[in-house]
Amino acid sequence: MCGIVGYLGPQNPKDIIIQGLKKLEYRGYDSAGLAVFDQNTVKRVRAEGKLKNLEEKIKGETFTGHLGIGHTRWATHGVPSENNAHPHQAGKISLVHNGIIENYLEIREELKAAGAKIQSDTDSELVAHLVSQLYEQSQDLLGSVQKILSRLRGAFSILVIANDRPDELVAFKDGPPLVVGLGEKQNFVVSDVQAALAHTKNFVYLEDREIVAIKGADVKFYNSLGETINKPVITLNWSSEQIEKQGYSHFMLKEIYEQPGSLAATLAPHIVTLRARSEVQLFKVGFGSQPQQLESLNAEADWAQTQKILVQFEKIYIVACGTSFYAGSIGKYFIEQLAQISCEIDIASEFRYRQPVLNSKTLVLTISQSGETADTLAAIRLAKEKGAHTLSICNVKNSTIDREAHGHLYLNAGPEVGVASTKAFTSMVTLLNLFALALAKSRKLLSSQTEEEHIHALQQLPAQIEVVLGYDKYFAKAAEQLKAFKGFLYMGRGVNFPVAMEGALKLKELAYYHAEGYAAGEMKHGPLALIDEKMAIVMIVPDDNLFEKSVSNLEEAKARGGKIISVGTGENARLKSISDRYLSIPKAHWSTNPILATVPLQLMAFHLADSLGYDVDQPRNLAKSVTVE
Ligand code: G6P
Repeated sequence: MCGIVGYLGPQNPKDIIIQGLKKLEYRGYDSAGLAVFDQNTVKRVRAEGKLKNLEEKIKGETFTGHLGIGHTRWATHGVPSENNAHPHQAGKISLVHNGIIENYLEIREELKAAGAKIQSDTDSELVAHLVSQLYEQSQDLLGSVQKILSRLRGAFSILVIANDRPDELVAFKDGPPLVVGLGEKQNFVVSDVQAALAHTKNFVYLEDREIVAIKGADVKFYNSLGETINKPVITLNWSSEQIEKQGYSHFMLKEIYEQPGSLAATLAPHIVTLRARSEVQLFKVGFGSQPQQLESLNAEADWAQTQKILVQFEKIYIVACGTSFYAGSIGKYFIEQLAQISCEIDIASEFRYRQPVLNSKTLVLTISQSGETADTLAAIRLAKEKGAHTLSICNVKNSTIDREAHGHLYLNAGPEVGVASTKAFTSMVTLLNLFALALAKSRKLLSSQTEEEHIHALQQLPAQIEVVLGYDKYFAKAAEQLKAFKGFLYMGRGVNFPVAMEGALKLKELAYYHAEGYAAGEMKHGPLALIDEKMAIVMIVPDDNLFEKSVSNLEEAKARGGKIISVGTGENARLKSISDRYLSIPKAHWSTNPILATVPLQLMAFHLADSLGYDVDQPRNLAKSVTVE
């Protein structure tokens, strides 16, 4: 979704803005623009397409001022074009906006009737006109913004400057995130900390309907009643190097390769050696109102408290979107099998409108890499309204979902930049495994043998992933031949059914093939009709209790001419003999097979897309962080 960068300080705003917007490219966008002070007025430049087009246009332009705003646009109202690109201007006002103004039609009519000259098809420009009308009368930028806030409905984060105020920036939000970066005599307002991380580690997160007004070096925050408020400053430990490609051709490839390390980081806080054996303990499920700092907790006491909380749930709903939904779908198997609690899995955009039965014995567990996905956030709010407990699994600490949920678990996977999620998925599955174990343990359903088996399997994962990363080279070559297929049908059973869906999603997102993920047992209920020699069947069939059944499905697909790519355990001669291509994963536990099987599928999607010349890190039409419905 749209990226926003605002800067006020001694450096050249143009450079800071372009640098910041580049860090936000991963969010997905189709045009870009900036408005920066020059000789006491605002100069605006916009361009359709990628940031390099904007850079080309501003070559040779001077910007002498110290204040500017920039934007990458992901079109909602109006086609991607220079004219619809931000910043939008009306009178003395320039503004950038992320989100949707829901009552834009009514505002548009009103503005037209008042004679406003509307230049674009966007809802965003209308806000510029509203602010401009008030600013003309009052010459008070903050006051004008405060007044129009009550007029706006929808989801928005907005930065406003006026061309006669070279040292004043006002910003506000309701929905999509907005973060204020506090630097040395310079300040930033960005939609994601990554845009300012090279300059500061100190951030203030705006809550809905709060306003920040920056005047020179002075930063003030206001609540929706117009009162000044103090906001906590959060110091992040992410480094800007973590969001560089570090020698890899793509962020996605780097993130695939990071998985041995990211999984180890997910596991580390929760596997504790006590009485000479390793045990699962789950921290940070404190169910307080603020995220707690692990470092400050007393491990054993906190675990005892956590178990008391976990034991009271009679029903669990896992709610998420996209790849996180597929991770959650695996979690359902873990929870029901290990902890014997009824667990439903819901797509967040469905959950929020389907009137789920929620009460104080229910836990709503949301999963989100970004912590900003609008539908997932709405699910948390609904659950809280209905008196359910909420627990979030997030990668981005202090994100909106993390801040709003009662309890918190973190992936610790480090920043994920590629639009298609990879390392976050494997960390989610790992954390869900640990969560199910902790739930089972709190209900006294976990034998020490089962616990040991799971922990042992999880601890082996980093080294086992190193082995499956070898499929990078394999698919770099195989992609050429795989291109010839017209479609891909991914299948699996049990915990590996969601792996099939995730594998198909990766291929759709990146290589734009028609790919479907199916429960292998459903093959005869439809997909079999699709199978011919142009259809690749990708079957996840590790050595588990459903092996025989999956092999029968493979035989059926093969008998109809389908070309078989199977993912199996070790050197399985039987599978090899049926398959056109055989991908071997190391012998593992049933609960870690899904992670090992996912990695070759990530590499396959990556190489197919790359060999077709597609932009792997920023697939067409997609966004990393979906902050509107
Ligand atoms: C977008 C991204 C996906 C991601 C999904 C959910 O569609 O492109 O990679 O899985 O959003 O995002 P979340 O941040 O909530 O996990």
